[in-house]
Amino acid sequence: ETKVYDINENNPDLSILKCAAKVIKSGGTVVFPTETVYGLGADALNPEAVLKIFAAKGRPQDNPLIIHVAHTNIEKYVREVPKSAQLLMDKFWPGPLTIIMKKSDVIPDVITAGMDSVAIRMPSNKIAGKLIELSEVPIAAPSANISGRPSPTNIKHVIDDLLGRVDVILGGGRTNVGLESTVIDVTGRPTILRPGGITLEQLKAVLGEVFIDPAIMKAADENLKPRSPGMKYRHYSPKAFMYIVEGEQKKVINKINELSLKSKNEGLKAGILATDETIKKYLNGYILSMGSRENTDTIAASLFDRLREFDELNVDVIYAESIPEEDIGLAVMNRMKKAAGYNVIRV
Ligand code: TXA
Ligand code: MG
Repeated sequence: ETKVYDINENNPDLSILKCAAKVIKSGGTVVFPTETVYGLGADALNPEAVLKIFAAKGRPQDNPLIIHVAHTNIEKYVREVPKSAQLLMDKFWPGPLTIIMKKSDVIPDVITAGMDSVAIRMPSNKIAGKLIELSEVPIAAPSANISGRPSPTNIKHVIDDLLGRVDVILGGGRTNVGLESTVIDVTGRPTILRPGGITLEQLKAVLGEVFIDPAIMKAADENLKPRSPGMKYRHYSPKAFMYIVEGEQKKVINKINELSLKSKNEGLKAGILATDETIKKYLNGYILSMGSRENTDTIAASLFDRLREFDELNVDVIYAESIPEEDIGLAVMNRMKKAAGYNVIRV
């Protein structure tokens, strides 16, 4: 049976956090909020506990996990701390940046899927930070969703997916970034394996040159294997079939109106993923805004919630606008394209 507690990030109830930390220390699973998405945590140094994470999510074991820490002295977990990693930690930790380094022997193979590198992140959410500190171990935590579903950004999403499958759920309101952390590999030349809360521009400002794994914006094939194993799986997926319509705004609106009318005539329930600026221009179907083009952070923050809303509305097909692939828009479009199985219509 799952124990569910709602806590206030700004005034967290220590006795609840102590209980949750005890569950971690004794090899159990605890869902907790972070500033990106909710995480499904267990003691990263206890292989049996880590296996419970894979079981609860239905996650393939060849997909490695991020370990979450409460401080920047990570020497124990890595072979060495490269200069670039030190610069990134100084600038962006705590925060939505995961850094991949060569692992030390204390990190079990179940965490890294047998690879010789480990992903580490220090979250800025105070509930997460306190839980890790009280647990006195690093906490392994993937997003707290059933594998393949959109990552959870509020406690309702977590309960829908994981009630009865984990020991404790800590609620702490809506996550503010709404998309997962940026993953950067610094074992060689700095390379972004997953775009996220910290943008390419922010990383370049610290490191100078930063590369992007070419696999992140395209469908994986033989020649284009993503270096982040998780990026190859169908992900962030609503139940409906989804299309992204890309091009000049007026043409996009016309095309989506044409497609949603066609779907309606075929007896299909259509959903439209619009923006605050365009939402009034649509005529048919379930029309939701993912946020404002003037402030794309709002789009990042609500994308996964909207995808889950379409699931609840039981739509058969979703037509989505695209946004420019710059700043946080790169991460938004990476998640949208994966959710759409790379179905992009250009007009
Ligand atoms: O914001 C986040 O990062 C959230 C919160 C809970 O912290 N966590 C999260 O974890 O998104 P997960 O497991 O859903 O995504 C981790 C990603 C996967 O794509 C995984 O393949 C990749 O990081 N990854 C982990 N370790 C890696 C490694 N050693 N080398 C390459 N990729 C790695
Ligand atoms: Mg995930």
